Amino acid sequence: MPDNKFDLSVNLAGLKLENFVYNASGVNNEILKQLQKIADSKAGAVLSKSTTIDPRTGNENPKYIVKSKQIPGCTLNSMGLPNIGFEKSLEMFEELSKYTHKTIIASVSGMSMEDNIKMFKTLENSPVQGIEWNPSCPNMVGKSILGYDMEAMDQAFQTLRPLTTKTLGVKLPPYMDITNFDRLAESLLKNNIDYIVSTNTIGNCLLIDSNKESVTIKPKNGLGGLAGSFIKPLSLGNVWSFYQRLKGQVKIVGVGGIHTGNDAFEYLLAGADAVQIGTGFAQNGTKIFEQVETELVDILNSKGYTSLDQVRGNLKTL
Ligand code: DHB
Repeated sequence: MPDNKFDLSVNLAGLKLENFVYNASGVNNEILKQLQKIADSKAGAVLSKSTTIDPRTGNENPKYIVKSKQIPGCTLNSMGLPNIGFEKSLEMFEELSKYTHKTIIASVSGMSMEDNIKMFKTLENSPVQGIEWNPSCPNMVGKSILGYDMEAMDQAFQTLRPLTTKTLGVKLPPYMDITNFDRLAESLLKNNIDYIVSTNTIGNCLLIDSNKESVTIKPKNGLGGLAGSFIKPLSLGNVWSFYQRLKGQVKIVGVGGIHTGNDAFEYLLAGADAVQIGTGFAQNGTKIFEQVETELVDILNSKGYTSLDQVRGNLKTL
């Protein structure tokens, strides 16, 4: 029998994660029943769907390709932030905290800064331990992605950080320009943001069904956020770039295309303190968390490592 024991627990800037791996926001985490399922799984924490103040039904269907024929292992979505609204979310967090001892993290995506402020203040008196602020949803019709505006991000951090004593993370869009890494890292450090989640989907991608000569989702004339295997190199590049700039002072949660323990191991090498799974969860259900953790432990054991710290960020350069 191989020794499959390994401590995969993580202290993410005060958030106690039972495991290195947990769920990404936006996948099967809109209602209490789904969050309870995540709590019952081997996920390290329970993260909610991004909430807005008012309930939303989201964009028109079809809006989510769970398994892409064009790029297997990838998804395309333009959900448009369907969620039960903030009031119901608060009730849900109360119920969930009675159900599980796992860390609960609320994803918050206000339609305005005023909405974000309101939700941050109210969450102070809720049982959630962390807030993942999400300024990187690419699917709001007629709205740009705040995460690409470095000035606006700095302003937002200045406004939001003092409003909460909870552990505060920010979900970032994928960046492709080195100046974004420099400027955002400086702003994250200056404003005492606890951790980043990198990355969200690649916005405004197009999957074409060439037989039907058609787009594959309805909103935005077919444009949506691409996730899954295809985005892993980009997300890894973001994690590695931020790791070199944040120097452990702002923690990093990697997300994008994790389907195996080896994928998680690569994120760890690039500097991730923990990882999230979105597409793999959508395609395989909660068993993906245990599968990835078991495979990761096998890799760590076979390489003779005894802690995550021995690997984190130790990617060799040439
Ligand atoms: C949605 C998509 C995202 O990528 C995100 O971060 C938040 C919301 C959505 O379309 O619902």
